[in-house]
Amino acid sequence: MYRTKYCAEFNESDIGTRAKVCGWVQKQRDLGTLIFVDLRDRTGIIQLAFDDKTDKEIFDIAFGVRAEYVLCAEGVIRSRGEGAINPNMKTGMLELYVDKLEVLSVAQTPPFEIKEETDVKEELRLKYRYLDLRRAPLQRNILMRSRVARHTREYFEDNGFIEIETPVLIKSTPEGARDYLVPSRVHPGSFYALPQSPQLYKQLLMLSGFDRYIQIAKCFRDEDLRADRQPEFTQIDLEMSFVDENDIMTMVEGFIASLFDKVMGMKVELPLRRMTWDEAMNRYGSDKPDLRFGFEICDLSDVLKNTEFKVFGGAIAEGGSVRAINIKGGADKFSRKEIDKLTDFVKTYRAKGLAWSKWADEVSSSFAKFLTEEETNAIYAKTEFEKGDLLLVVADSKNKVVFDSLGALRCEVAEKLGLRDKNVFNFLWITDFPMFEYSEEDDRWVAMHHPFTAPREEDIQYLKSAPDKVYARAYDIVLNGTELGGGSVRIHRQDLQAKVFDALGLSPEEIEVKFGFLLEAFKYGAPPHAGLAFGLDRLVSLMLGLDAIRDVIAFPKVQNASELMTQCPSEVPEKSLDELGICIK
Ligand code: AMO
Ligand code: AMP
Repeated sequence: MYRTKYCAEFNESDIGTRAKVCGWVQKQRDLGTLIFVDLRDRTGIIQLAFDDKTDKEIFDIAFGVRAEYVLCAEGVIRSRGEGAINPNMKTGMLELYVDKLEVLSVAQTPPFEIKEETDVKEELRLKYRYLDLRRAPLQRNILMRSRVARHTREYFEDNGFIEIETPVLIKSTPEGARDYLVPSRVHPGSFYALPQSPQLYKQLLMLSGFDRYIQIAKCFRDEDLRADRQPEFTQIDLEMSFVDENDIMTMVEGFIASLFDKVMGMKVELPLRRMTWDEAMNRYGSDKPDLRFGFEICDLSDVLKNTEFKVFGGAIAEGGSVRAINIKGGADKFSRKEIDKLTDFVKTYRAKGLAWSKWADEVSSSFAKFLTEEETNAIYAKTEFEKGDLLLVVADSKNKVVFDSLGALRCEVAEKLGLRDKNVFNFLWITDFPMFEYSEEDDRWVAMHHPFTAPREEDIQYLKSAPDKVYARAYDIVLNGTELGGGSVRIHRQDLQAKVFDALGLSPEEIEVKFGFLLEAFKYGAPPHAGLAFGLDRLVSLMLGLDAIRDVIAFPKVQNASELMTQCPSEVPEKSLDELGICIK
């Protein structure tokens, strides 16, 4: 061992003892007869001291060290002289008075300074990610991730779960996103897929009798990147047999509560709140509502159904709606210009416009002039519009557009008003998701979660006749407006699985090719089972109050799915392609 302790682990009780430390030079100060070197490791910094009584050879080495040199220093811990104490530093009252010093490696001047706060462009920091990871904030994030992973294993092991690895080279899994494909050399023209999740394998493990499965699993999805999405990410993936949705939710709630207690020192009130998907959409316009603030959506369609104002009346007549959110106390917080910005914002959600009323000293409105006084009054009464309020209204012939835009708008407004406190953790279960959603692109019904999700017993009768009426035994766990995890009770009966495939419009041939092995497996005795998967990256980033999951991933990818450090993806030699039988178009 090179060191006796980490740099920041020394305290007053060590004064007078010999010690040996290793790390990187944060900075060196040369005061002529005195030299101070701040030495850094992942715990923090200790000051190394050299003076005119230091051996000349050692003093000269200390004189020559530069930022980011790697040193091993040995000496005696002593207290700093009066006036030299640094109250901002954990080891600010002491220093290592060095009598042995070795430069383990020299360093070029790094492309940016390694320090707590930085305004260096992220692109440069990602190119030199290993240097950026030396900075304390990123070190804290990565350590937190490790603690969360460790606690996860502990909790589930304590609850009788078995950790099992599932393969990474697999057959394409039918989840929502595009697969990453891996060509096979031995089978030219054939491909493996990287797993979007271990879904099928964990279900098969239930069939094998491992009735409580857990895995911290790498997943891969070729989808557009966002702040909370990476092409490769990690799930806390679990599955249980002989359970229903309540058992899964209780097990997961126990995990969340113990995690927040142990790692954050915070109490999470159990049971967590539950809300059906229908209620979430109607009240918040989202299946992952942020409940740290109100601004509920109010349906104005009934009071406006006879209006002559085309924008509102037309939307209702065409099967859509007019809905509003009342920003209580928001009248003086948003100028006309800012309302214009909100209008541009809702347009990104395909809304055609944003109507508003504002009650500062007096009422001003973008739409009142187009309505009768009764209609306007009815709107104000229904939305409890009062002095100080700002009312925002969206009308559209498609309800989805109304919900999407108002759902996003309430978050945008709350953000601007500072109502999204990152130290508040608001958990919520969303239940009773629709089983299917209509894909305009594919012109058919697709599974909202995945096709192995069980429909509610009472809805099975509608599978063929009215897929839109079928609700699933699926649940999501939401934290502060982010989908943290999702899962469902699975179908364990072959006949029901066949009906669902049929409702999805899959032909017997397609079913055989895609899921033949699964249907076959279900013939040999399948236990009722259910499960869920958390996004580990999202969980850790929310715990830390971060906006982007890349800050909790050691080596993340950027927007265009490339990694700036190694410059991947990259071309490969012609010979490698030949071996795979691949020709680039
Ligand atoms: P789902 O697709 O909802 O469910 O994924 C589970 C959770 O994984 C996280 N997640 C992501 N995190 C970062 N980047 C991504 N691209 C990304 N995609 C998903 C989310 C999400 O809630 N097999 C099912 C689970 C089950 O039914 O048991 C599944 O994968 O936090
Ligand atoms: P217009 O008749 O297009 O000038 O619109 C009158 C008012 O209605 C303006 O305040 C518009 O911003 C608003 N408006 C237009 N389209 C919509 C819409 N789809 N939903 C809500 N308000 C709208």
